[in-house]
Amino acid sequence: MAQLWGGRFTKDTKEEVFLFNESLSFDKRLFEQDIEGSIAHVVMLEKQHVLTLEEKDAIVKGLTQIKEEVNNSTLQIRGEYEDIHSFIEALLIEKIGDAGKKMHTGRSRNDQVALDMRLYIREQVIVVDEELRELLKVLLRIMEENIRTYMPGFTHMQKAQPITLAHHIGAYFEMFKRDRSRLDDIYKRMNYCPLGSGALAGTTYPLDREYTASLLGFEGPTLNSMDSVSDRDYCIEFLAALSTIMMHLSRFCEEIIIWNSNEYGFVEMDDAYSTGSSIMPQKKNPDIAELVRGKTGRVYGALISMLTTMKGIPLAYNKDMQEDKEMTFDAIDTVKDCILLFTGMADTMKFNSSKMEASARLGFTNATDAADYLVKKGMPFRDAHSVIGRLVLYCIEKNCAIDDLSIEELKEISDVFEADVFDAISLKTCVEKRLTTGAPGPEQMKDVIEVYHKYLKKEEES
Ligand code: ARG
Repeated sequence: MAQLWGGRFTKDTKEEVFLFNESLSFDKRLFEQDIEGSIAHVVMLEKQHVLTLEEKDAIVKGLTQIKEEVNNSTLQIRGEYEDIHSFIEALLIEKIGDAGKKMHTGRSRNDQVALDMRLYIREQVIVVDEELRELLKVLLRIMEENIRTYMPGFTHMQKAQPITLAHHIGAYFEMFKRDRSRLDDIYKRMNYCPLGSGALAGTTYPLDREYTASLLGFEGPTLNSMDSVSDRDYCIEFLAALSTIMMHLSRFCEEIIIWNSNEYGFVEMDDAYSTGSSIMPQKKNPDIAELVRGKTGRVYGALISMLTTMKGIPLAYNKDMQEDKEMTFDAIDTVKDCILLFTGMADTMKFNSSKMEASARLGFTNATDAADYLVKKGMPFRDAHSVIGRLVLYCIEKNCAIDDLSIEELKEISDVFEADVFDAISLKTCVEKRLTTGAPGPEQMKDVIEVYHKYLKKEEES
């Protein structure tokens, strides 16, 4: 057990206490952020004449070496240290001697960990955003290829009206686009630097917080030191955004699982993205989609845990806050894996367009359009609704589609029907004429696809 704070203690920490208290086993993930933050801190201390140039140079050199040694695995992060901050400081002192003991001047682990966590989350917000962009590219490709792939659209899991695959996939494009804009907001809101807040009440050293903030790429310093060391809103916001991403992925997975079932057969998973059964040789299971759906619970769990951990914490830092890490890290890893795997699965799955179209032809998906036909011929909508209702009942008894009836049979139910009805309620007309903004009509879909292309391109340019 090696600690930074032995002075006022007369006994060693009990081993169980040390183990319960330590965070090195998981906060070692923050080692690059910790070093980056320490370098900015000492560069500022030198500028403010708190450290000499020689001391600053020795510390920066020592920290840079530690970083290299960890990265090339000559140094393992482990040992009897309480956390990553103690580990790096102890190692630095070992390496460069007395100058290393000055690194922590005007700083507390409270503002140090607040900074490390912010730097880490800020980076991960970008990584998740980039993964989502790759997913959107795949979705846009599927959309472009399927603006005339007809399929049934559902409400209440009942066939409702015909749509296209491009339209269906476009709904998810919108969801993930919103997810990205949420990440963008989080980034902007969290991009303020807590370093220099000290333990809770700032410090009497002449720190230049604006300077460290700018060295670390922040908009500026945070404005209340008590809040700075105990704010984990950005973790919560990120977990909420990750949960929403998982909710979207999970809905999509649920649909893919249904579409992949023998009954639907709308989609087939690539062999590389499915698994077999140990007993049933015929099986090809959509495990990836099921796992993504399943892992959603775990990410929601992290959000609820974090909210619960934070809810009773008085100002300012309390050790409860060390619990922010494991669950946040796990959620980030989980979501990144899920987006990556989902993207690969979506990119390789094959759609069975003839099955989709056949399914859209059955199930009276053109009933609304049949009612609209009567309305266009002058019948009030409520009456038309009732006529078509009776028509559907007749078809169910006859076990056929509306389009299969003869004009004589149609006229028997309402003499408003004329021969042009067949064209008006054909699957093609039902889809192609839906041209309001956001509707599945292929000509309107093309405009939306154009907007999406511009959206993705603009990002690449910026
Ligand atoms: N390991 C601690 C954490 O993750 C670092 C901050 C420790 N601060 C303290 N006052 N004990 O929160």
